[in-house]
Amino acid sequence: MQLNELVSANKIETEAMAALEKSILYYQGRPVGTVAAVDDSSDALNYDQVFIRDFVSSALLFLIQGRTDIVRNFLEETLKLQPKDRQLNAYKPARGLIPASFKVIVQNGQESLEADFGEHAIARVTPVDSCLWWLIVLRAYVVATQDLSFAYQPQFQEGIRLIMELCLVHRFDMYPTLLVPDGACMIDRRLGIYGHPLEIQSLFFTALRAARELLICKGNQDLVEGIDNRLPLLRAHIRHHYWIDINRLNAIYRFKGEEYGKLAVNQFNIYADSLPYYELDKWLPRSGGYLAGNVGPSQLDTRFFSLGNLMAVISDLASEEQSQAVMNLIEKRWEDLIGDMPMKICYPALEGDEYRIVTGCDPKNIPWSYHNAGSWPVLLWMLAASAAKTNRISIAQNAIEVAELRLLEDEWPEYYDGKKGRLIGKQARKYQTWTITGLLLAKQFLVNPANISLVSFDPLSFGPASRACEFDLGSVDTMLLG
Ligand code: GLC
Repeated sequence: MQLNELVSANKIETEAMAALEKSILYYQGRPVGTVAAVDDSSDALNYDQVFIRDFVSSALLFLIQGRTDIVRNFLEETLKLQPKDRQLNAYKPARGLIPASFKVIVQNGQESLEADFGEHAIARVTPVDSCLWWLIVLRAYVVATQDLSFAYQPQFQEGIRLIMELCLVHRFDMYPTLLVPDGACMIDRRLGIYGHPLEIQSLFFTALRAARELLICKGNQDLVEGIDNRLPLLRAHIRHHYWIDINRLNAIYRFKGEEYGKLAVNQFNIYADSLPYYELDKWLPRSGGYLAGNVGPSQLDTRFFSLGNLMAVISDLASEEQSQAVMNLIEKRWEDLIGDMPMKICYPALEGDEYRIVTGCDPKNIPWSYHNAGSWPVLLWMLAASAAKTNRISIAQNAIEVAELRLLEDEWPEYYDGKKGRLIGKQARKYQTWTITGLLLAKQFLVNPANISLVSFDPLSFGPASRACEFDLGSVDTMLLG
């Protein structure tokens, strides 16, 4: 790196750290999280709240920097917001749920936290991802501090148990994936991602693995067995049914329909005519592949969703071969997926009638904007972690270089619009915290790839759950802390 580049990289980091500092929310004198954005130039709406998903990149960065107290406080306070009793009122959040966001309110000089489980959110969307991210942050905290006793406290064991019960309960469908409504994750608006969207499945898998490491077996045998049974089924289901590369596309293209019974090959009755197969034939590099956005009855959403794919690489949900193919795809389709601002939240955009019908004519989600194929700098950290996991560091380096050219000057926008990501998002907040931490954290993964152990997992080795429970706590410690 040239001297002037070094000076400018340092300047960006210093300014980013100063902006991050301003985003820290204090509650009863203690730092408990970072607000979504500190942008005085536009209406705050709920951007002045701490979002669980937005805090993840702050949390990981703080852990790397040794500022573990903020993460600890965050975990303790959000745990208190989790409903612990069965709910009879269907308008109230279910037992075990973690809110989308929270804020400090002051009444009669007393501070308290107010949670939003989606009941105030635009379109009243359910934050399914919050409880999954919460577990991922808890496990990262334990990895960073080596303090397993923190997660072993009874209130944390109860919190983990309630999340697992909520996720593992038998519902109406018989897939190992999690069935959720539209807008249940980072894309918290209607975008045709109801059913079994990849983002939720990747986070579900990662959270199951985190819970498996943190849950004390004694007294939780049922849940541990439930997790051990679910993990291999979920992994196999995603690796098989969601995978798209040129070989798989060929198989799907020649699928027969209307197959009844156990021997059906085209199990979900996918009709090739529902897929943009000519586009994919052109777009898919020979060595590339990715996990589809969604799979359901006669449904294969072939859009590429970044968060779900990257978290699948990081958590080992995707196989080693698939992970390399995902990185190949990103490298070969750089202009589409990275462009002038890493990285597209999904690709391609929904356009025309499809946009109108699927989004409900949402003006914020017009083609190549916001969630509908806009570019989100926060995804940089997941890209960098995936690059470190797959030994493809140059991909992260190049993406960071691209982002650094703009972010500080543009005042850390929430997202960018356009096919190449050159337009600052039409309604993007400035000084968006996860944009700032997305860049800082990505750089940390580059400087020290070992930092990805906070979020990454080794390949699963399966043993009967009952046997795993025979180990005492000592061996669980070894499993988690290596
Ligand atoms: C937007 C995003 C959501 C994020 C929130 C706060 O609603 O879609 O993912 O958590 O802003 O930044």
